[in-house]
Amino acid sequence: MEKIVKNIVNQIKSKIDKAPDIAIILGSGLSDIANEMSDKVVLPYDELNGMPKSKVHGHKNQFIIGNFEGKTIIAMQGRFHLYDGFSAKEAVLPIYIFKELGIKTLIVTNASGAIAKDLNAGDIMLITDHINHTGQNPLIGGPIIDYGSQFIDMTEPYDIEYRNKMLDIAKNLNIDLKQGIYIQFIGPFYETKADIKMASILGADSVGMSTAIEVECARQCNLKVLGLSLITNKAAGLGENKLSHTEVLECGKTASKNLVILIREFIKNI
Ligand code: HPA
Repeated sequence: MEKIVKNIVNQIKSKIDKAPDIAIILGSGLSDIANEMSDKVVLPYDELNGMPKSKVHGHKNQFIIGNFEGKTIIAMQGRFHLYDGFSAKEAVLPIYIFKELGIKTLIVTNASGAIAKDLNAGDIMLITDHINHTGQNPLIGGPIIDYGSQFIDMTEPYDIEYRNKMLDIAKNLNIDLKQGIYIQFIGPFYETKADIKMASILGADSVGMSTAIEVECARQCNLKVLGLSLITNKAAGLGENKLSHTEVLECGKTASKNLVILIREFIKNI
């Protein structure tokens, strides 16, 4: 897979003038940032030899490279989920692409369901830590590209300096930024009430179907990670509604404005 990554990186490099500084993975319904980038180059995954292809409704399946607040950003619209049938290694392939492009900072965003009582649909949660509850991990059998260390420290996968910066930014902008632990389930079912009770006992504040495995690789690649989660619903059994993907996408659209503002300020300041 190392060869596939390097080949994709060469294809991307041949289509852009300036190497990107920062990568952003855009979660379900969180595409707004891409609209605000200038001098954009759009690279559909279909046109890059070797890229896995996502099948989920609401994802565009492309990289967008462009300028945002004076920095060159590569945004990923459409990620690779385990529930699509991708292996853990396929799902994290883009992390190695980012690393090989020379990126040092990764911003991961996602949509998640609230487990903690003080979280509600429309809130933004700064991810402080995660639990990988997928039963899979992308480093088993060795990483796609070995950068020297087999046993990765995961004491603070979400960079403390970045978290503090984001908290300061939110405070200055008067945006209510929650904090919490994200748990990744494999999906594609939404969880049962019993799953959510368990996740709550385990210490999780919100639940989704991505991110933890990506951040595991990002740390192996020594990328500094900022994680932000848009709360789109109360997790199973904690709200009045049944869970639907349409609801998740709709909430993503309306509540993502503040998320864009926060990310814009963050990028300006790093
Ligand atoms: N569970 C899992 N994934 C999700 C949820 C949820 O409640 N909301 C958004 N993504």
